[in-house]
Amino acid sequence: MNDLAGKHIVLGLTGGIACYKAAELCRGLVKEGATVQVVMTEASEQFITPVTMQALSGRPVYTSQWDAREPNNMPHINLSRQSDAILIAPCSADFLAKLVHGRADELLSLMCLARPADKVPLLIAPAMNREMWAHPATQRNMKQLSDDGATILGVGSGFQACGETGDGRMLEPHELLEDLVAFLHPKSLAGRKVVVTAGPTFEAMDPIRGITNHSSGKMGFAIARAAREAGADVVLVAGPVHLPTPRGVRRIDVKSAREMLAATEKETVRADVFVATAAVADWRPATHSDQKIKKDGSGAAPTLAFVENPDILATVARTERAKSGALFCVGFAAESHDLVKHATAKRERKGIPLLVGNIGPLTFGQDDNQMLLVDAQGVQELPRASKIECARRLVAEIAQRLPR
Ligand code: C5P
Repeated sequence: MNDLAGKHIVLGLTGGIACYKAAELCRGLVKEGATVQVVMTEASEQFITPVTMQALSGRPVYTSQWDAREPNNMPHINLSRQSDAILIAPCSADFLAKLVHGRADELLSLMCLARPADKVPLLIAPAMNREMWAHPATQRNMKQLSDDGATILGVGSGFQACGETGDGRMLEPHELLEDLVAFLHPKSLAGRKVVVTAGPTFEAMDPIRGITNHSSGKMGFAIARAAREAGADVVLVAGPVHLPTPRGVRRIDVKSAREMLAATEKETVRADVFVATAAVADWRPATHSDQKIKKDGSGAAPTLAFVENPDILATVARTERAKSGALFCVGFAAESHDLVKHATAKRERKGIPLLVGNIGPLTFGQDDNQMLLVDAQGVQELPRASKIECARRLVAEIAQRLPR
């Protein structure tokens, strides 16, 4: 993917053991198509060398405000003016305090102070020991920095290099990348709440067995990620899948169709958009045994009876909120043939404004997809693309259709 194509990022390193992760982060930024200018404080050079960062970024690293390579000898001006964002990762407790006070006695802090704040956003990935993180001074400094317009990306939790366990670890490189990509994305869903169902459901017949559908959940997870990138408050109601939760998305894990319906009904009460991508089991076993159903040795198999599951999408689409247009419902249809005909009929049957059709075998478990958009105006075929690109396109199409 090239999620950062055309972007120029200044990556600032300050003194902390998390500098080792900055190497991978730099590589990830370059892989996503960004050009990266690394700026390092003197303290960061105790942990990682400019040689490493130069090799990974493909550009000489700046470490001093007196760097004579700049014709006007003003790297603090020149470097920030060309960038789409300055990301400080890791940002030490000391450097946070410096930024709060607008100190400028070395290149990185000088550059942050001299940046045009309305054009060049400042993102901070703090990294420190848990006691330093919890200290009121650090918390106070972060609030001040955030009030001053910086974006604090948060911290991870877990084992720390000092041997202690707690909050304050720098986020992992892939998490920082996801946050940066989201940050730079246009905010077409700002202020909106989006609910997405994803994955299969599992309908138990006893504590050991049940019936389910094939569904990787990839498309729904991609839509949740794309909606978050677009600035929405996103809730992902997920059936049993093994996928990481997209950053910044609230995930509710469910098993059965009825659990999925209950969570969805609760969350859509205040939502603006509902996207149903889940492959909900059409039926569930009519009875559920609390104990494992055992073979009795006679060779006779048990007879299974089924009852129909609720249609989550149709149920939500029938609510007053959806019918009034305050909740925009989107459905998916996986077909094996006659896609246009079946998808058009399904949109009407479900009573929804937008339906996405795709050919099931060409999308199940894949990383890419081809979507057909069906609305009251007609049918629009979109080009085949990765699921995240399809999801971003779908989110843009939804945003255009929402009431202002
Ligand atoms: O009727 P069919 O299962 O083909 O419809 C597919 C669409 O309806 C998808 O958007 C799916 O998430 C949704 N659906 C649902 N609840 C069901 C069955 C399907 O929300 N019980």
